[in-house]
Amino acid sequence: MTPVYLDYQATTPLAPEAFEAMVPLLRDHYGNPHSAHRVGRQAAAVVEVARDDVSAALGVAGGRLVFTSGATEALNIAIIGAARRAETGRRKIVTVSTEHAAVRDTVEALTSQEFEAVFLPVGPDGLADPGLAAEAIDERTALVAVMLVNNEIGVIQPVDMLAGLAHAAGALFLCDAVQGFGRAPLTASADMIAISAHKVHGPKGIGGLWIRDGLDLPPLIHGGGQEGGLRSGTLSPALCAGFGAAARLLDTHMKDDATHVETLWNAALTLFPDWTVNGSLTQRYHGNLNIRRAGLDGARLLSECRTVSFSLGSACASGSGRPSHVLQALGLSQKEAGGSVRIGFGRYTTLEELERAGKAINEAAGRQDLPPQEAL
Ligand SMILES: Cc1ncc(COP(=O)(O)O)c(C=O)c1O
Repeated sequence: MTPVYLDYQATTPLAPEAFEAMVPLLRDHYGNPHSAHRVGRQAAAVVEVARDDVSAALGVAGGRLVFTSGATEALNIAIIGAARRAETGRRKIVTVSTEHAAVRDTVEALTSQEFEAVFLPVGPDGLADPGLAAEAIDERTALVAVMLVNNEIGVIQPVDMLAGLAHAAGALFLCDAVQGFGRAPLTASADMIAISAHKVHGPKGIGGLWIRDGLDLPPLIHGGGQEGGLRSGTLSPALCAGFGAAARLLDTHMKDDATHVETLWNAALTLFPDWTVNGSLTQRYHGNLNIRRAGLDGARLLSECRTVSFSLGSACASGSGRPSHVLQALGLSQKEAGGSVRIGFGRYTTLEELERAGKAINEAAGRQDLPPQEAL
């Protein structure tokens, strides 16, 4: 039997509509969208339709969407670009301690180029503190980079407030909307927004950086000058079309998806009564349930519970053996962090699957409470 897939933050199943949109481009329409002839122009038209569809789903006015290989690249272009264009007096980058490695490590790397990195702490609910943010963001700040929805615990950061502080100080605001795209309203006036197709039922290998009008960034990747010179390299029309189709579905499914994950969330809370939810119960996306249980060895649970595909936290950090930086930032002990697991569900998860997974996870966790011989 195929395991129940409950790792929607790591990646989401490809929507059939996105698959169908890609097939003709992979099979028949092989043109290079940057070629001037007819075959190339047809491919370019596909790319531009996809760009419009993704921009429309993002729901931001104006600006331009630059296709990238994924959100990691988009975030690198945004952070390094913002640092390179910053005035000499602005040498500080403010972010939050619970950001994804694509942000944290990029900001950290800039400290070797005389930038100061400030990682704002979060409270036990996982949310950045407005007072501390206001103290940290000042006229020496070049960039404030904060995610909309946290990938490990699902909490929604107060990005409106943080964007306001950034702009009041004359700094740029970057939003990592990878987990929030199509799931949590993005009302903040961001200067840059990073997104990724494979988190919204699109294909892997494509993402985007939306950049507001009037903001010029220096390129990170040099070459043929594609994507307005910001991101050279031949685009894949098939991946663009798949992303576009997935984005169109976000537009039409957003309400239904939200209702569905809320129903699953409420069911999940009843399935795991003696577990504790990590992170805010109110400021959150409901498709991410990160829970802990006293005395649990989360890594052992994962390896023993083979009928469910779930995780300890970030897919990038899993296997590192290190306790989650996010859970530690909430103030959890190493034991509590190690006794936590992330259960991520979404559009294609059924209630029956969730119930089956809940039973299997609880049974496997219960075996850890028994003395060694009885557990066998
Ligand atoms: C919040 C967040 N930011 C950035 C990324 C990186 O995205 P990609 O896989 O498209 O490089 C991820 C992926 O896990 C993520 O969850």
